[in-house]
Amino acid sequence: MAEESQKWVLMVTAQTPTNIAVIKYWGKRDENLILAINDSISVTLDPAHLCTTTTVAVSPAFNQDRMWLNGKEISLSGGRYQNCLREIRARANDVEDEKRGIKIVKKDWENLHVHIASYNNFPTAAGLASSAAGFACLVYSLAKLMNVQEDNGKLSAIARQGSGSACRSLYGGFVKWVMGKEENGSDSVAVQLVDEKHWDELVIIIAVVSSRQMKQVAPQMLETVETSALIDTGKGSSTKRISYEEAIQNRDFPTFAQLTCADSNQFHAVCMDTSPPIFYMNDTSHRVIGCVEKWNRSEGTPQVAYTSDAGPNAVLIARNRKAATLMLQRLLFHFPPNSDTDLNSYVIGDKSILKDAGIQDIKDVEALPPPPEIKDKVPAQKYKGEISYFICTRPGRGPVLLTDDSHALLNPETGLPK
Ligand code: DP6
Repeated sequence: MAEESQKWVLMVTAQTPTNIAVIKYWGKRDENLILAINDSISVTLDPAHLCTTTTVAVSPAFNQDRMWLNGKEISLSGGRYQNCLREIRARANDVEDEKRGIKIVKKDWENLHVHIASYNNFPTAAGLASSAAGFACLVYSLAKLMNVQEDNGKLSAIARQGSGSACRSLYGGFVKWVMGKEENGSDSVAVQLVDEKHWDELVIIIAVVSSRQMKQVAPQMLETVETSALIDTGKGSSTKRISYEEAIQNRDFPTFAQLTCADSNQFHAVCMDTSPPIFYMNDTSHRVIGCVEKWNRSEGTPQVAYTSDAGPNAVLIARNRKAATLMLQRLLFHFPPNSDTDLNSYVIGDKSILKDAGIQDIKDVEALPPPPEIKDKVPAQKYKGEISYFICTRPGRGPVLLTDDSHALLNPETGLPK
């Protein structure tokens, strides 16, 4: 270790995307290692709209590992953090910064402490998989800081020990978490099925049903595995799983949409079949699904797929921009913002979809005609204020290092949050 000064701080900053499961993971065969009872598949979301940025720093001046999430210090004492830190430290290598005269040898890492600062560019705990992006970013950035020579697949097995879904955030595009067979979890890793460019026509609209801070609890999977009669640990026949992967490879939207919606509905059915029952979706979530189902049926072929995780938000995947535009018009018709909400903060992310939909201000929302598929004599229903906001996004890339110092969340002199 550099002896002449104990003041140096060495830092790395990385950005990692979040992901939404299209074939859900639910149920563990090992709670500590976080080993799933089924394979799952997700789509990585564009980090421009939803991501975690993490800066990790090491200095001989630090006397304990510390972490700040969105500026607030949080405890690292939990088993999930400890497992990730231990696994990464075990793989650390020599690091040298010749210019600054810093040399850390492999065995130094056992005694060196790290500071970690993490920031989500979307509301934490709005049910948008912040733990997935968070643990993926923690592991990825620490691996870079400690010169860990392992590929993203191996890193995914470490991120998995922070939160199962986090392993899928180590790649962009469509990603599969292979449940694996080994008891030590070495083969329970994420693999990329296709990158984000493969199916880049897809547009994703997230209806954030409630952005209120939800209690941060790990999903209650154990109860489901123990009590649900409906849970299908094999997630249907293998033919069904193969056709899903084929649908992604072939950009076969009707098959993709049908299987995505079915898997989401089955996941929520299994939750409701748990004792005591778990209700993640609410009336608003059901209304959004109703609106998509009605439109898809009237078109004769699916235009939009929907899926919801362990919360009430609805994630809608449109087959292309045209379908996304028509979907957004329908959503804004049924779920207009509260009178005090500005349209600019009601539809966020890729706002060009809003422009394509011909909507510039709230008057345009008020002037939207009822969707033609509503043929009933009954006036079309409106649910003002039931949605907090919409995020327009698309499939995105995997983790990246941010080399420009301006992105760092820690002060390069003190190693404390800026
Ligand atoms: C419904 O990955 O958050 O989003 O492994 O206990 O941290 P832990 O759970 P987590 O569960 C995600 C469940 C899900 C489905 C999915 O992402 O596959």
